[in-house]
Amino acid sequence: MINVENLNKWFGSKRAVNNVSFNVNKGEVLGFLGPNGAGKSTTMRMITGYIPADEGKITVGGFDIDEDPVKAKSLMGYLPENAPAYGDMTVTAFLRFIASLRGVSGSERTIAVERVIETCFLQAVRHQPIETLSKGFLHRTCFAQSIIHDPEVLILDEPTDGLDPNQKHEVRNLIKRMSERKAIILSTHILEEVDAVCSKVIIINNGKLVADGLPAELKKRSAMADSVIVKLNNVKYADISSRLEGIDGVDSVMCLSENEHSCETRVIPKKTDGNYQNGLAEKVYHEASDADWEICELKTDEGRLDDVFRSITTTDDR
Ligand SMILES: Nc1ncnc2c1ncn2[C@@H]1O[C@H](COP(=O)(O)OP(=O)(O)O)[C@@H](O)[C@H]1O
Ligand SMILES: [Mg+2]
Repeated sequence: MINVENLNKWFGSKRAVNNVSFNVNKGEVLGFLGPNGAGKSTTMRMITGYIPADEGKITVGGFDIDEDPVKAKSLMGYLPENAPAYGDMTVTAFLRFIASLRGVSGSERTIAVERVIETCFLQAVRHQPIETLSKGFLHRTCFAQSIIHDPEVLILDEPTDGLDPNQKHEVRNLIKRMSERKAIILSTHILEEVDAVCSKVIIINNGKLVADGLPAELKKRSAMADSVIVKLNNVKYADISSRLEGIDGVDSVMCLSENEHSCETRVIPKKTDGNYQNGLAEKVYHEASDADWEICELKTDEGRLDDVFRSITTTDDR
């Protein structure tokens, strides 16, 4: 549904977007991840036709954003950063207005407005002027305008920014509910958001695409992925470390914490052909049983997107 090829944008001598390519199919939610200033909003503005690209090709539903802008835009809903809205309009009037702009009229318009008021939980404020809304309701009103024409493609620029935890949860659920029928891109610098709603991720840094894949695949790149954390009662690290190191497939062992009652260690597997060792927790369990160590806790660390994000985006040329 969304196809981006070799996209470039300069602001003066600043290269804000550097040869970025990706695509998003129906049913997918693409998490567009990157630190502030990475080029996320600029990319989204180009996809929605709000600013032109300097180089590259963008198609939405097969329509080129330069050659067929009206058709391409009609397929898209867009929630910009700091979305603008008319302060003196009521929520309902604003949504009716946006529906008209989107070519939804007559009884269809009434149905569309009622649908988004319900979807975005706006019943309580529907007759209130927009300038009197709290931040959460204002945000939901802007969200509502982006889906009023039930678009096949949704471009959401930091859709949960500035919301409280309950509101974040609601918006994420809303996105998940809609995702089956749409192709969605959402930008964020919040990693838990990616875990919560995205089916794939790209990481952009300094305008450049630096990683892409499934959230689980990216987590596996974390140095700690597939390591095993084991907490044992009534043992000293010095007495157990060499035995843990001797387990088949183990690269190294480190002490995480130790006191007179227990000792917590991390057992790090060898990398085999770029893949990590599986089943290490089971081996550690058997070793501990054979040695008569009392296991208090045993778990596999699936890796942290956080580590991967930081290691990729805190390098060299900022
Ligand atoms: N209109 C503009 N004029 C000049 N520089 C801009 C403009 N818009 C964005 N930039 C610069 O481009 C880079 C990318 O910005 P942006 O796309 O907003 O990043 P993000 O959304 O990832 O935080 C930043 O360095 C920003 O300062
Ligand atoms: Mg931005």
